[in-house]
Amino acid sequence: MCGIVAAVADRDIVPLLIEGLTRLEYRGYDSAGIAVRDESAKRALTRMCSTGRVADLAVQAQDCTAKAGIAHTRWATHGAPSERNTHPLMSSGVALVHNGIIENYIPIRQMLIAQGYVFVSETDTEVIAHLVHFELKCAADLLTAVRRACAQLVGAYGIAVIREGDDCVVVARRGSPLLLGLGEHGNYAASDASALLSVTRNIVYLEEGDVAEIKRQSVRIFSVGAGDTGRATDRECPEEGTPLVIGVDRPVHVSTLSAEAVELGDYQHYMQKEIFEQPEALAATLEMIGGAQSLMPNLFGANAPEVFTGINSVLILACGTSYHSGLVARYWIEQIAGIRCTVEIASEYRYRASVPDPNQLVIAISQSGETADTLASVKYAKSLGMQRTLAICNVPESAIVRECALRFLTRAGPEVGVASTKAFTTQLAALFLLAVTLAKASGRLSVADEAQYLTDLRHLPLAVQKVLTLEPQIASWALHFANKHHALFLGRGMHYPIALEGALKLKEISYIHAEGYPAGELKHGPLALVDADMPVITIAPNDALLEKLKSNLMEVAARGGELYVFADADSAVTEGDAVHVLRLAEHYGLLSPVLHVVALQLLSYHVALVKGTDVDKPRNLAKSVTVE
Ligand code: M6R
Repeated sequence: MCGIVAAVADRDIVPLLIEGLTRLEYRGYDSAGIAVRDESAKRALTRMCSTGRVADLAVQAQDCTAKAGIAHTRWATHGAPSERNTHPLMSSGVALVHNGIIENYIPIRQMLIAQGYVFVSETDTEVIAHLVHFELKCAADLLTAVRRACAQLVGAYGIAVIREGDDCVVVARRGSPLLLGLGEHGNYAASDASALLSVTRNIVYLEEGDVAEIKRQSVRIFSVGAGDTGRATDRECPEEGTPLVIGVDRPVHVSTLSAEAVELGDYQHYMQKEIFEQPEALAATLEMIGGAQSLMPNLFGANAPEVFTGINSVLILACGTSYHSGLVARYWIEQIAGIRCTVEIASEYRYRASVPDPNQLVIAISQSGETADTLASVKYAKSLGMQRTLAICNVPESAIVRECALRFLTRAGPEVGVASTKAFTTQLAALFLLAVTLAKASGRLSVADEAQYLTDLRHLPLAVQKVLTLEPQIASWALHFANKHHALFLGRGMHYPIALEGALKLKEISYIHAEGYPAGELKHGPLALVDADMPVITIAPNDALLEKLKSNLMEVAARGGELYVFADADSAVTEGDAVHVLRLAEHYGLLSPVLHVVALQLLSYHVALVKGTDVDKPRNLAKSVTVE
């Protein structure tokens, strides 16, 4: 949830640290800080921090020059976003930044207090800084001290450490993402490759339990193994780890990420940019089916034919928006493939005593591929004997992708806005492909149906483009929401998850309390809330449930509710005094959820604009939830 950048180079790295933090700010924006070996202060460590945004930190850092340093943007877990809780945390000449949560920080803190250490922050991170300092008393170098400190930690961490007088930065990871960048003028580390784009594209992904020493001209990596928790009981005999060969044990990947992909361009916000990139993102995701009239299972990985053979059901694990894409997929997988499908919130599943089934296909859906709960839920499913795992993910080398036997990589491009948009629609495209592939594998699909589904998919980018042209009308609707405190989203069938997603988008970026309901449930409780002050947003495609839905709308209208209806061109829904209707160009059958959600994304975006909220960085949230 936090962003980390570290650098050791033969030139000033302060601008790189600031630029990297700016790129990573969406991952956490409660506060930001850097610690550098200051060239103008005899290479002593200088720490600077801001409880505002990275832009404020940049102003402070403008006169500083350094050739080595570490930097951090924070999403607060332990302790409020105050100056003393801002990373880097210091311990007499040692500075450290951390992403993750240390679960055993209390006993370590007590041990360190007994040793005379004084704590100034409320963070769990400060124990790591002091622990490294403590270990340095008898360790040969910073690398050894960090390895020994890490061996005592329980929990998740990605860390970067720098010490006064040293010519290196040491980094380590377990449970939080961290990668190395190998450059011409220096070597680097970051929690995401986008932070290093201006200096290198040569990336080495660290694995669980890796510790690396970064110097100007060299990088050494040691593996202390994944382990269960990172706990080592004997501090005197820590696991020193196995030296690894870069390029052999840890391959060098050349990042193809373009700088443009992570820049705002002419847009006002990343969310707006990402909403409008959806036709392109869908086309890129569907590119892998090319002009084929027939789908092959190996679209999901070389072993897919074996993995798919003999599955009797599907279990989808995900969080947030990705969970909603799973809920839509349930309708498709059951209807098209005739395979039972359950969808679980990953954070619940991982702690539930469920009944494992080795013939169940477990699908993890995640934009980032780093969501701690989703990752843990897949590991949990595997520990129960369910080895048929598939990741649907937007980030190629992410932890969830590496954890699963099969993968389908959506090609949405980097998603920076905290509110997920293009990741969602590309996940839906991938899941539709999966439903059709499973139907084919189970012998349920006619040649004609398969060809029709593929034609519909290929038309999707154009159909989404048409929805985007509704923006002016949707923006005018948004004005009506400026003073509202609550909103209800209704849908039926496979549009019920779209109602949930619409409600999530609205609450996330406009802070209006919103609920998504299956319209048929209205009279079982939520109807009591309906009055002129609570807008009711309804998804009304021209499908088999439209007449039922219209009865639900009557119930709202009869109680003075104000309806905002997203219908299809041919949905028989009539405009009225308190019934506003906006029509999508076409009814799109089973793929209709993909179109309707785009309209709801635009509504949330424009309501947030009207309310003047920080659209891309809504309060209290962060992009990748890498802590539990
Ligand atoms: O990266 P993931 O798809 O695993 O993230 C899951 C959720 O944290 C994410 O979808 C979140 O709900 C979004 N902010 C919603 O817009």
